[in-house]
Amino acid sequence: MRKTILINENWKFVKENVGAAEVFTAPSDKVNIPHTWNAIDGQDGGNDYYRGTCWYGKTFSKPELNNGDQVYLEFRGANSTAEVWVNNHKLCTHDGGYSAFRINITDALQEENELVVSVDNGPNDRVYPQMADFTFYGGIYRDVYMVIVPNSHFDMDYFGGNGFQITSEINEKTAVVSLKSYVSGEAEAVRYTISGVGNVQVPVIDGVASGSLIVSEVHLWDGVEDPYLYQAKAELIKNGHVIDQVDSRFGCRTFSFDKDKGFFLNGRSYPLRGVSRHQDRIGVGNAITKEMMQEDMELIKEIGANTIRLAHYQHDQYFYDLCDQYGMIVWAEIPYITEHMPNGRENTISQMKELIVQNFNHPSIICWGLSNEISVTGVTDDLMENHKILNDLAHKMDHTRPTTMAHAFMLEIDEPLVFLPDVMSYNLYYGWYLGNLTDNDVFFDDFHKKYPDKIIGLAEYGADANPRLQTAMPEKGDYTEQYQCVYHEHLIQMSAERPYLWSTHVWNMFDFAADGRDEGGKNGINQKGLVTFDRKYKKDAFFLYKANWSKEPFVHLCGRNYIERHEEETEVKVYSNYDTVELYNNGELVEKQSGEKVFTFKLKLQGNHRIEVKAGNCSDEITICKVPEPNKAYQLEGREVINWFDEPDMNCPEGYYSIKDVMADIRKSPEAAKILDDMIIYAKSKRGDVAKKVKQSKSMAKAMNAMTVEALIKQAGGSIPKSMVVEVNKSLNRVKKVNDIVVELKEENYSI
Ligand code: GCU
Repeated sequence: MRKTILINENWKFVKENVGAAEVFTAPSDKVNIPHTWNAIDGQDGGNDYYRGTCWYGKTFSKPELNNGDQVYLEFRGANSTAEVWVNNHKLCTHDGGYSAFRINITDALQEENELVVSVDNGPNDRVYPQMADFTFYGGIYRDVYMVIVPNSHFDMDYFGGNGFQITSEINEKTAVVSLKSYVSGEAEAVRYTISGVGNVQVPVIDGVASGSLIVSEVHLWDGVEDPYLYQAKAELIKNGHVIDQVDSRFGCRTFSFDKDKGFFLNGRSYPLRGVSRHQDRIGVGNAITKEMMQEDMELIKEIGANTIRLAHYQHDQYFYDLCDQYGMIVWAEIPYITEHMPNGRENTISQMKELIVQNFNHPSIICWGLSNEISVTGVTDDLMENHKILNDLAHKMDHTRPTTMAHAFMLEIDEPLVFLPDVMSYNLYYGWYLGNLTDNDVFFDDFHKKYPDKIIGLAEYGADANPRLQTAMPEKGDYTEQYQCVYHEHLIQMSAERPYLWSTHVWNMFDFAADGRDEGGKNGINQKGLVTFDRKYKKDAFFLYKANWSKEPFVHLCGRNYIERHEEETEVKVYSNYDTVELYNNGELVEKQSGEKVFTFKLKLQGNHRIEVKAGNCSDEITICKVPEPNKAYQLEGREVINWFDEPDMNCPEGYYSIKDVMADIRKSPEAAKILDDMIIYAKSKRGDVAKKVKQSKSMAKAMNAMTVEALIKQAGGSIPKSMVVEVNKSLNRVKKVNDIVVELKEENYSI
């Protein structure tokens, strides 16, 4: 029988490209897996974290083996290219930092062994991801196992899978469960058992054993309400003895998509409303523990989501298992992202094969994501061909799940790429990076009107919020908790009014590291999370979703961090899934309100206030007070100016440009356009690599052209310092207006 041994402890780590021969002699640290070398520098901004080759080493004695036993090493994740040596023999190279891989080391074994692994997260043009809005932490950051199997065994060599594939087909109350396994070496039969159902023994023919079992009165895997899992085992029989065994859970469910009504699970309408997740955490990067994964899942459960987009790469098996257990519907994807690389085709294919083979049996997964925002730097023939290959591959490997893609919001809705996958989705950021909140509504209305037969969803949407930043007047680009709420209140309503959206996923459940970012009062962090990077603080918007999605009764008072308030009359906002809430000020009832999810109260401010809200058996409390001056700590540095033209040296002379002009007018003068472009390049540099690369579509260029420079500056959220705004305005004031030229719309790089 096989033996699986976790070998995470006691590795040597050399943070230098010393070469295989030097690993045990070079100065090193002692580390345990999971490990990354970018836990700190990958999260502190500057886009300067160490990307290159580092080395790991471990010694071990030869395990006790029976005749013919095969010894494998199994790496669950090493980012992003790993090479494995045993006793100076290089045994494998694996490209792809988020999928599991195995290597047979039997022939290289001696009594005492030196295992050496190089891991490289340096830039190249063939392994995805290379360009994306998250940190590519280097390291062996998921578990490592030694697996000893008999000479004949369930296949260990096919794209990291366990050689056991389960598919179920449901007919009314009965499920036909097809069981298939792949066998290496000689064996006569495989016995399949489903706990509580029965077993069947089938012959191994040409290395494959196919059988089926009927489950009558099938207990469906029914999403978050009843995620019932069956337990299956496959036993390999040789000479009448069981010599190997693999186990897998599976679930029986059906699902479908309707162009008007969205997603259906087990025949009933089941609108998918949920969040996206990146795996990393503050202080530990991607080297997270099972307890951390469990905590993430508990938070996602608490918010009441029924779906997770596991972005932008393969997640840990443990997390997919949790999704099965908690009944989450999952969008799984490979890190084919942002920038298509002509040399990366092979890597997209192998990563897609790994994704499907390793995750085939998870009932939670309902689609395979081909790519994310891949059109950002332009669409080429090679990109189209690459996607067709992946799409066909996914269909060939799995006829039970559709393919999907997350399109960038600057991809015009008529582009052929939009329609390449089976079901479509867009990442939209109207009301944050660009445009107004209602542009999201218009976008989907246009799409649905033009393509009523297509299945469309919202794969990403979100707005950054730093819990330190608080305001009575929320505005796009201010990074306050309050604007994040305004944004999500609108988006929730927008999607509720459009039941055809097959899924919506908030970007993102948790703040995450993007070392190239420097905005919103934090360096190196994307703050679109509903929960902070350390998982310790639930932002107000978290409770908005909880009110909409969760059945667990609760009431929440917003503005917990907005303690010192300057306004005469303040707004007190409450999120709850009760329909009646009562607000108390210093123990006195202010008002009892009935409504749905969002309740707002007005309160005159004077001195100190202990505010309490009660709903059913639940209550919440905050303390706030009136202060004579606005608290500067609540404002984003660089965004303190409310009206630019109240500031000294800010003018708007007749016949000359100023920041009050719309961009289309400024672009009529090459001299003024240059001033604008320089400012935009500067602002973009604060939003990381992806922002620098974005290529605008014509429709977005049109939207941008209609904006004033002043509006653009606000949207940039304080990333353009006051002194620069004054200088830009002064420079524009020196340029005479050009009135009679029509500027041609170009796909220029001028969004922020
Ligand atoms: C993109 C992208 C994410 C990114 C997000 C953002 O659309 O897919 O990876 O983090 O937008 O800008 O916050």
